[in-house]
Amino acid sequence: MTTLDDSTPAVPPLVIAIDGPAASGKSSVARELAAHLGWTYVNTGNMYRAATLAVILADADPTDESAVLEVIDRTEFTCPVRDGRSVILVNGADVDGELNSEPVNKAVSHVARIPKVRAILLDLQRGIGRSQPSVMEGRDIGTVIFPDAPWKFYIDASEEVRAKRRGLQGLTDSVRDRDRMDSTRKTAPLMAAADAVVVDSSEMNLAEVVAHVRALLASRSFPETGPVQAPAASA
Ligand code: CDP
Repeated sequence: MTTLDDSTPAVPPLVIAIDGPAASGKSSVARELAAHLGWTYVNTGNMYRAATLAVILADADPTDESAVLEVIDRTEFTCPVRDGRSVILVNGADVDGELNSEPVNKAVSHVARIPKVRAILLDLQRGIGRSQPSVMEGRDIGTVIFPDAPWKFYIDASEEVRAKRRGLQGLTDSVRDRDRMDSTRKTAPLMAAADAVVVDSSEMNLAEVVAHVRALLASRSFPETGPVQAPAASA
């Protein structure tokens, strides 16, 4: 029997989904695009990083699922929008400055593979995307969070280029290990949605990637001026 899912609205959300592996440049592209459009910028990686930070601060083992869930269950995560971007608060505190530390880089993919953690953050992410036009970046936005998003991109770059970009940011981060864990997990693995446009940014700078994505949007029923309406879903 087919049932109607009340949680799935008939109108496609005003969401531009940007997925991709670690250090592919998707955050910079999503931020620039959101600023240009006046849409809300949503970095879902920061939500997983905030959950991981809570686990680390509680001295729990990020690889122990029940220990992680015990911490997550007693922690409140909220996502107010400030200055055009969604901010993740942990028990009301802004933890932005602590999200890219080495311990968080090391542990985040362990925490992110736990289905219940993903379910909690999925609700937050859908809440934002359904309430305002958003450019949302992550690993599973086009596949799981907003499979009905009218505009989807998968920003990639070679492993060498990505490792180099992360190094230039002055961060120690084993992007290869995180990618392996993110792409092999059972729940919401990192992958391009079947209907996403894949952009290889290895040979492009940020301005070139943003210009390329904007040109692709313009060719996909995305008006640069005037009221924006999602195109009707094709049958
Ligand atoms: O900035 P970078 O691309 O290195 O990573 P991030 O977007 O901050 O994401 C950090 C980690 O969170 C990823 O390695 C994934 O394990 C997890 N993540 C996820 O599972 N799903 C998302 N939608 C976003 C991030």
